[in-house]
Amino acid sequence: MLHNREAERPSRGPNVRMKSNELDEELMPVTIQYSSSQPGEEKAAQKAASTGSKPAKAERPSDEGVLGASASLSMPDRLKERPGLMKSQETSYDNRQDSSIRPKHLTEYIGQSALKESIQIGLDAAKTRNEALDHLLFYGPPGLGKTTLAMVIAQEMGTEIHITSAPALERPRDILGILMSMKPGSVLFIDEIHRLNKVAEEILYPAMEDFALDRTIGKGESAKILRVPLPRFTLIGATTKAGSLSSPLRDRFGLVYRLNFYGPEELADIVSRSAGILKIQVDQGGALAIASRSRGTPRIANRLLRRVRDYASVKRADQAVIDETLAFEALDLFEIDPLGLDTTDRMLLKLMIENFAGGPVGLDTLASSLGEDPRTLEDVYEPYLLQSGLLNRTPRGRMVTVATYRHLGYRPPTGWGDQVKLEFE
Ligand code: ADE
Repeated sequence: MLHNREAERPSRGPNVRMKSNELDEELMPVTIQYSSSQPGEEKAAQKAASTGSKPAKAERPSDEGVLGASASLSMPDRLKERPGLMKSQETSYDNRQDSSIRPKHLTEYIGQSALKESIQIGLDAAKTRNEALDHLLFYGPPGLGKTTLAMVIAQEMGTEIHITSAPALERPRDILGILMSMKPGSVLFIDEIHRLNKVAEEILYPAMEDFALDRTIGKGESAKILRVPLPRFTLIGATTKAGSLSSPLRDRFGLVYRLNFYGPEELADIVSRSAGILKIQVDQGGALAIASRSRGTPRIANRLLRRVRDYASVKRADQAVIDETLAFEALDLFEIDPLGLDTTDRMLLKLMIENFAGGPVGLDTLASSLGEDPRTLEDVYEPYLLQSGLLNRTPRGRMVTVATYRHLGYRPPTGWGDQVKLEFE
């Protein structure tokens, strides 16, 4: 199975309520735990484990690509042999450290400047009026800091935050229980909010709009609806798929923000900041080198920083500071290429080239060839490949681009550039 970057989260457990003043470094190792039941993820994992259909034998590439990309493709097997660096080597120690390097205040949060400015205005206004902040929706690819921002907001408001994820709110009583425990001004963070079921959504509507719960008392003709008031709270929803949110739910968020991929300088600043907290010596060249291969994503930058630190301490114990040369040496060893693609990304693209002539190929077909859940492919793997121009979505399916052929060391088929252009005309 392909590794699931979405699964790079603290271990699941019961919903945890944290007061924002508990979020200081001392207590942060008590990692935020998501709710225990993750039915969607379990199903996805089972499906991926049970598929594993081998793609047909592919043609050899015209020459060797970056990092010696090899020709034979049997995706699931190769992945079993060489599980992705990103997930398999993620440890609970990493997760604890993630907590310590999370910014606690908006001023410490690097990048997303327009969004930060707007949030600061909302925070100042809410504090001046002594009111709860309006409900917020954050959307964008995973790893860009949606959860971190929610925690920063709670901290800035001086209130507690309840953190959960939509698949954990399976039964009405799950969401009811959380809503009934809200205090004035509390923040409720719901990750993957596009996966909320209809019943939970309908419970949320009056809760968000009127700060009330509508409970049905009795059955049949004698049933009555009892309106239970709730304190004014702030719901923060996060999603990788804003388009999958129902419009009644989306319309109830007063503030809607898209998080964008980070630029290399911003990521280098994040790497330097995290290195300072973790007491890792990295110079500017080293920070930029790590940033350049982090796919515009802070979570990946921080993870690569730790892997480079491991490499430095084992292989270059004599060198006190991680510089550009050392960082690239480590990243090459871990097979993170100059665009930040790992073995899994390259396999996905190679499969498209070798087995589907570069596309178009439908998402479901691609996913089943990879032994992967289509949703994971779409939400986790595709955003950066789309952003970096290595993948296109066309009405007939996914296609690689001329840049993909070149990046992976293949010769693009004659007229391929024209073909891609035509798809959009
Ligand atoms: N760690 C993860 N994301 C961050 C950000 N945007 N700013 C600072 N540190 C971070």
